Amino acid sequence: MVELLALLELYDEDLVSDLRDGPVDFLEIALEAKAGFRRAAKEDHAGVGARNEVFLVDARREILKELRRSNELEPDGNGRLPPVDEPDVLLDYLIRLRRKKPDETVPPRKGNGGRGRAGLVEAAARRLVLDGARVAFADVNRKGAEQVAASINETHQGAAIALSHDVTKEDDWVRVMAETEKAFGGLHVLVNNAGIGLTKDLEAITLEAWRHVHAIDLDGVFLGCKHAVGLMAKTVKASGLGGSIVNISSISGIIAGHNMAAYNSAKAGVRHLSKSVALYCAKKQMGIRSNSVHPVFIATPILDPLVARYGKEEAYAKLGRQVPLGTIGEPDDIAYAVLYLASDESKFVTGAELKGDGGISAM
Ligand SMILES: NC(=O)c1ccc[n+]([C@@H]2O[C@H](COP(=O)([O-])OP(=O)(O)OC[C@H]3O[C@@H](n4cnc5c(N)ncnc54)[C@H](O)[C@@H]3O)[C@@H](O)[C@H]2O)c1
Repeated sequence: MVELLALLELYDEDLVSDLRDGPVDFLEIALEAKAGFRRAAKEDHAGVGARNEVFLVDARREILKELRRSNELEPDGNGRLPPVDEPDVLLDYLIRLRRKKPDETVPPRKGNGGRGRAGLVEAAARRLVLDGARVAFADVNRKGAEQVAASINETHQGAAIALSHDVTKEDDWVRVMAETEKAFGGLHVLVNNAGIGLTKDLEAITLEAWRHVHAIDLDGVFLGCKHAVGLMAKTVKASGLGGSIVNISSISGIIAGHNMAAYNSAKAGVRHLSKSVALYCAKKQMGIRSNSVHPVFIATPILDPLVARYGKEEAYAKLGRQVPLGTIGEPDDIAYAVLYLASDESKFVTGAELKGDGGISAM
């Protein structure tokens, strides 16, 4: 058993990240192995507690099953299967499996609720699903959410559900949390993504428009954090895995524009709110981290007003000229940032801001 623990430790540290593009069930095993290993380390230093022992045996059986499914267990000249109980041999097979895996991807959906391109959160959801997550896709655009969920389920059956959700409504948050718990049994990650832009001169912004932007871009994030931490803390406690809140702010929450007062203000609020939530969760020892992500222009439907005005090519080129790297970003540029902050690879990162801005804030 000690040897198997050593195997899982290696598995945990060296293989999990390389297995990202592998089949979901295989990665789930790795993640469970990781949780089991942590539980084992936490609960029982001298030997391995009975519960963990059972778990580890199960994990090994699953790994072997995967090896068999992949026809990786070749009999020797005498028709005998190799001694897969040996950790080194198992590891060797795992590495071979990893190398052999096709580069599985969840193909991007055509259209976004009829709007043409994928938003940031769709790309992030696809990355998370490839990493073994199941996602509740909650949006005020129920039809769009259903289309995204259906297309994810085409390749990863049962990995996504769609929920209707207006982030400005507190009752909706309560219901969405309950529905997520019912569907998936808990919550490890919340991505507060819903947002609208407003490009308008200060003197032209009505109080109503100001409040509307803040209601979605800032109040929605506050309500999300407020209503997610309870369920997340419960899930963290039960599973031994961490919780993570990822708030999608904007580079506009760090650098300002002359005609973006409402958006600048709301997105700056998200940045600081994320830090406050991080400190609250740390103080309460909830095992939940909170960070913000700050994209510059990314090719999503949020840029549609500009595209309508200048045409796609000209609009993107115009924005790209403002970015040191010379181009606007793609949804996946931000999806990987979300994936990092959502995962335990960032377990020591909280209260931070991660910029995906092509260098614009370095100027
Ligand atoms: N694309 C960019 O250039 C860019 C840059 C910086 C920050 N962001 C931020 O990224 C986030 C995602 O934007 P995107 O680019 O994917 O645009 P998007 O328009 O595709 O996505 C925004 C989503 O929010 C949803 N939404 C709007 N109001 C809602 C409400 N009241 N309740 C629930 N859902 C609501 C919309 O239906 C839509 O699906 C936003 O917070 C945005 O401010 C985007």
